[in-house]
Amino acid sequence: MLIDPRTDSRALGLYVHFPWCIKKCPYCDFNSHPLKETTDQAAYLEALLSDWQHQYDILGQKRLAETPSENFTSIFFGGGTPSLFKPDHLHRLMREIPHREAETTLEVNPGSTEYFRFEDYQAAGINRLSIGAQSFSNTQLAALGRVHQMHETLQAFERARHAGFDNINFDLMWGLPGQTVTGALADLQQAIALSPEHISWYQLTIEAKTEFARRPPLLPKDGFLQDIEAAGLALLADAGFERYEVSAFAKPDRQCKHNLTYWSFADYLGIGAGAHGKISVDDRILRTQRPSQPRLYQQDPKTIAPAQVNPEQRGLEFMMNALRLIDGVEQSIFEERTHMPWHSIETVWQELVTQGLVAADRCATTPLGLRYLDSVLERLL
Ligand SMILES: C[S@@+](CC[C@H](N)C(=O)[O-])C[C@H]1O[C@@H](n2cnc3c(N)ncnc32)[C@H](O)[C@@H]1O
Ligand code: SF4
Repeated sequence: MLIDPRTDSRALGLYVHFPWCIKKCPYCDFNSHPLKETTDQAAYLEALLSDWQHQYDILGQKRLAETPSENFTSIFFGGGTPSLFKPDHLHRLMREIPHREAETTLEVNPGSTEYFRFEDYQAAGINRLSIGAQSFSNTQLAALGRVHQMHETLQAFERARHAGFDNINFDLMWGLPGQTVTGALADLQQAIALSPEHISWYQLTIEAKTEFARRPPLLPKDGFLQDIEAAGLALLADAGFERYEVSAFAKPDRQCKHNLTYWSFADYLGIGAGAHGKISVDDRILRTQRPSQPRLYQQDPKTIAPAQVNPEQRGLEFMMNALRLIDGVEQSIFEERTHMPWHSIETVWQELVTQGLVAADRCATTPLGLRYLDSVLERLL
């Protein structure tokens, strides 16, 4: 039985981080490092196994026992480029992790397909893929410093389907250097033509300490960005992709369970370099974070010092996530997951209702509130 993290607080996710890529992309601030010939994947696997075992003992076992099937609801292998992780290692890890009935996603960079066979992923228990297409224009892919070209994305998708994957996401970015409305729509049209189950459509942001922050590319002006967004949203809706979060679009019943876990402030464990976790223990909320540097992580994958989220922070953290969901969540979920009474925010909520920014009967924004989400969050602070 697949449980919905938006409504069922017994849901439990697991995030597994793989911190290496073939090459660092100039826009990316994820915890990723260039893979070297000397990178010892077997040692990383050992670290993941110890990290897993330790977190299972101190946090996971009790929480898993409370889930309906004593299994994770979702598992997400993210990166970095987890499709560089040797399939044998993935297999070994999956043997340890209770994953029956879990939505189990692996991020795939289309430029890494020589390292694995999709059939091996199926055999390991992966049942959802997230393919980092980014764009279907070779010019844009070059400007983004990607290691792949468009034909490799098409090939990866075809091979994945051939191997039996029936739940596939494309990551696409928009607002790319020099991009026009036509260019952005062409990317979406190509993705839609392939008929994936899910599309993540992210606006390119310039992140501090990245190559793009040091040497900023020329991005489309605000007016163009608004035009791209409006046209893209209409195209996705026409094609039957329902927007359920700011940047996430899905065919019916194909929302990403794992991301819903984050957005509805449900619980998850995180293993691997730099991975975060969030877990409720009685009326406390604990956060875990592993060392970001793979070397430091591997030296000591077990030491973990969960930090308590204080009550003032809980409400805001909850809202920062839940209000990204187009339908939000029930107000009772706020109480259940923050351990704070709804009436603690009632006065300001009512003001926002009067201004047409949030819903009266749910913890959700209106379309206007979604457009001014930052201001809504500031008011709730
Ligand atoms: C960890 S990466 C995914 C997988 C894989 N590493 C890849 O790039 O193919 C997650 C996604 O975040 C998006 N992303 C990364 N940096 C971004 C940025 N600065 N602005 C917008 N989206 C970004 C990209 O679409 C990327 O595929
Ligand atoms: S491949 Fe993905 S994780 Fe790696 S640097 Fe590029 S965007 Fe970031």
